[in-house]
Amino acid sequence: MTNHNWLNITGLFARSHKGANSLFAQSHPVSFTVEWGVKSRLPESRSHPLNCFTTWEPDSLLILGKRSEGFNLLQGPIFAGPKVTYVPPPPPNSEDAIFAHYQTGINFDKYDNILVEVSGLDPPPAIMAFEEANLCQTLIKNIAKAGYFKLTPVQKYSIPIVLAGRDLMACAQTGSGKTAAFLLPILAHMMRDGVTASQFKEQQEPECIIVAPTRELVNQIFMESRKFAYGTCIRPVVIYGGIQMGHTIHQIMQGCNILCATPGRLLDIIGREKIGLNKLKYLVLDEADRMLDMGFGPEMKKLISCPGMPPKDKRQTLMFSATFPEEIQRLAGEFLKSDYLFVVVGQVGGACSDVQQTVLQVNQYDKRNKLVELLSGIGDKRTMVFVETKKKADFLATFLCQENIATTSIHGDREQREREEALHCFRSGKCPVLVATSVAARGLDIENVQHVINFDLPSTIDDYVHRIGRTGRCGNIGKAISFFDPYSDGPIAQPLVKVLADAQQEVPAWLEEIACSAGGIGFSSPRGNTFASVDSRMVFRGKENQHSGGFAVSNISTADESWD
Ligand SMILES: Nc1ncnc2c1ncn2[C@@H]1O[C@H](COP(=O)(O)OP(=O)(O)OP(=O)(O)O)[C@@H](O)[C@H]1O
Ligand SMILES: [Mg+2]
Repeated sequence: MTNHNWLNITGLFARSHKGANSLFAQSHPVSFTVEWGVKSRLPESRSHPLNCFTTWEPDSLLILGKRSEGFNLLQGPIFAGPKVTYVPPPPPNSEDAIFAHYQTGINFDKYDNILVEVSGLDPPPAIMAFEEANLCQTLIKNIAKAGYFKLTPVQKYSIPIVLAGRDLMACAQTGSGKTAAFLLPILAHMMRDGVTASQFKEQQEPECIIVAPTRELVNQIFMESRKFAYGTCIRPVVIYGGIQMGHTIHQIMQGCNILCATPGRLLDIIGREKIGLNKLKYLVLDEADRMLDMGFGPEMKKLISCPGMPPKDKRQTLMFSATFPEEIQRLAGEFLKSDYLFVVVGQVGGACSDVQQTVLQVNQYDKRNKLVELLSGIGDKRTMVFVETKKKADFLATFLCQENIATTSIHGDREQREREEALHCFRSGKCPVLVATSVAARGLDIENVQHVINFDLPSTIDDYVHRIGRTGRCGNIGKAISFFDPYSDGPIAQPLVKVLADAQQEVPAWLEEIACSAGGIGFSSPRGNTFASVDSRMVFRGKENQHSGGFAVSNISTADESWD
């Protein structure tokens, strides 16, 4: 280590952020201030300049070191930590377990009334029924066994677009079937092309890569892929951090056509040359706005510049989310062909209308009592309670257990084994309350979650929309209750009022008052980021690039959470 005001990180080892922090502090007592956080925490949220932040892969670290003449960006291995030995149990593979599903709800048919807009040149016409998609018999059988009899709007429009070979950005409300909207047409093409898995290659070359921000979500997408690919020769594989690398490699080597992955593990495995990209035809970004923001954006850029990655005109790139801020749409352009189609079901970033939203004014000291009161009323119906920090998640889960409420918790500092156990306990109903950070906010599809409680409101409205979308899925109805503390939640008041009003929910007068007095950002930009109601190509045409770092920062959760 040098004693100058920049960091040489080679050879430093620590087991945790905290450990690494103190190591750096010892190495640079005078000349360098080190602060730890995750990438999603931005310099402006700190009193000191942000000097360091980690990537999500535990064995690499990105360091932004301050030099007198400027900034120095270094990257290198740092977290050796204990060797990860966890191997997840194999998923159940009886046909019943693979096709287990919950029922669509009373509002499923109301999806048909939602307005859909498609922008871009020459979109193919929507289909109205699965039969119109010309799918092969095996797929048709699997779709029926999965309990899908009617298309959701995002499926009606996206399936023909993907089948036509077009790039796509699709935005539709939480719980409305985006996963099948990309999986089914990709599988249909693969079946048409006679794709089969081969165990005999050291390096596997998948035809499709699907990336998503969290381990639990990529696992869920994998389970959906496995379901729809059942009885075919197509082999989906899932890889993510926190599990033994040997296991990951073993899974891949058994054959890999669809790779569901978190970004860190994916780049790692590509670097180890276990995955080659030469045959890649489909690149899917689920929760695409999250994948392109400051948190994962650099990794996504790295991915598309990996050796062998087909250029965008030689692959099909598909992006899905319930939220798509304008600046993220603009960044997405780098990944998509210029003639991509943009499908919007309802309003970009709108909350699911099947979720009844309530906002209560509760100050931070009263939150715990209010929570216990609410949970006692809710009984053993499944409830997700969102908090802003990992520490608070642990603390609150312990507190609720002491109150004899069967509770478990999930956040980025828990071991992968613990995360999976927590989710299992919650899914099975053994623990009907799950306390979570925003790591569980996106994509997770858990049967019968009837309530979401925002013990702490998130700092961005998009995060709110995703969190409350863990209930009210697939036409079922759900309830979301949010504690609004006027001392800390003022900045979200305006976008919250807009989201409530757009979803025809009651807006409390006191909240409207706070929103009005908040001033600053007007309703034209109510999300803290821009509320896109249209295809950003129309908005941005002719505008200068307004971003310096190349990645949008405004959509980022400020929770002290790490994701991948
Ligand atoms: N056409 C359909 N018929 C019946 N059930 C469906 C249909 N499409 C999807 N589902 C079911 O609806 C649930 C929600 O689907 P999915 O997880 O794909 O939603 P999503 O739009 O990706 O939500 P999120 O924005 O939260 O990620 C899943 O259980 C899925 O199996
Ligand atoms: Mg999804």
